[in-house]
Amino acid sequence: MHLKIAVLPGDYIGPEVMAAALPVLEAVLKKSGHTLEHSTHDVGGAGIDNHGKALPDSTLEACRAADAILFGSVGGPKWEKLPPAEQPERASLLPLRKHFTLYANVRPGLLLKNLIDTSPIRPDRIPNGVDMVCIRELTGGLYFGPKSTTDLAGGDIEAIDTMVYRKSEIERITDVAIATARARRKHITLVDKANVLQTSVLWRKVVAERIKATAPDINLTVMYIDNAAMQLVLKPAQFDVLLTENMFGDILSDEMAVICGSLGMLSSASLGAGKNSLGLPFGLYEPAGGTAPDIAGKGIANPCAQVLSAALMLRFSFGLDAVATRIEAAVKKAVTSGTRTGDIAFGKPSVGTKAMADAIIANL
Ligand code: IPM
Ligand code: MG
Repeated sequence: MHLKIAVLPGDYIGPEVMAAALPVLEAVLKKSGHTLEHSTHDVGGAGIDNHGKALPDSTLEACRAADAILFGSVGGPKWEKLPPAEQPERASLLPLRKHFTLYANVRPGLLLKNLIDTSPIRPDRIPNGVDMVCIRELTGGLYFGPKSTTDLAGGDIEAIDTMVYRKSEIERITDVAIATARARRKHITLVDKANVLQTSVLWRKVVAERIKATAPDINLTVMYIDNAAMQLVLKPAQFDVLLTENMFGDILSDEMAVICGSLGMLSSASLGAGKNSLGLPFGLYEPAGGTAPDIAGKGIANPCAQVLSAALMLRFSFGLDAVATRIEAAVKKAVTSGTRTGDIAFGKPSVGTKAMADAIIANL
């Protein structure tokens, strides 16, 4: 297979982990007899610095021409003084998600038994590790609803973000959760705030009806967001597929990631209705941990999340499940055998970004 991808490294540690992940991708594809064609494009702060805007037209064009987007991360202190609407996150990542209708964000939370020491949770609370997936709605809710900031009479200022959801948006993300759960332990936990929010009342109704009508084999549990945040720390192993709206998913997926070891291990796939030239889902694949400006330029960032995001890309956008599994197994072997970046070394000797990637390649 010939794989055509657009590579958007972004800012701070984005380009560092991308530079480490691409050789892993190239190596595994070569070993499996596939060819990779990739072009690299500025996005986020790099787009602002080099083209005057966070999502340059040429970058968007390259994404349209590709079968998948491998994304790094964007944003950071350098661009924080710009007007909010022009800042990297709001002006590149969110428009990309919206432009390609990437409504389903899939974030795997996997903590293997032999890596339990990387979790902040007491090992006796998670004797079998954690194996869950967060399915986060990605193109609705507070992120995309009507917004305003108004100067009021008397000098006060009012800012408004609006949480908007339609039945159709909830149905399509529920379908993703159902498909995900079917391939796993068949258990969906819907997280909402139905004791306060109208949108959550709609979520509860639509998700329950959808499961009843189309997936009676799936077990549904409903949980309020505050309780879910607590349950995730208390008993993370109770979760199989966690389904939730955009903002709650943003928060809970970071919590899930750190429970499963580190934000530096959290990969993600953002999928939508669109198909690529192979007839497979077009998607954007990104580590969920952000640009980490505090460690940028030091060569110590954990490249695993970027590598694992590339694996998700192979699985979802190219149908190369076995090759994806090969990458995931190599990451596990490298980490288990003690090659670890600082974020998962816990005082033991640690390696840099490149050495971590080299160890993954050696284990492919
Ligand atoms: C994520 C990130 C983004 C989000 C930011 C960078 C806009 O935190 O992918 O989780 O909030 O969706
Ligand atoms: Mg986030």
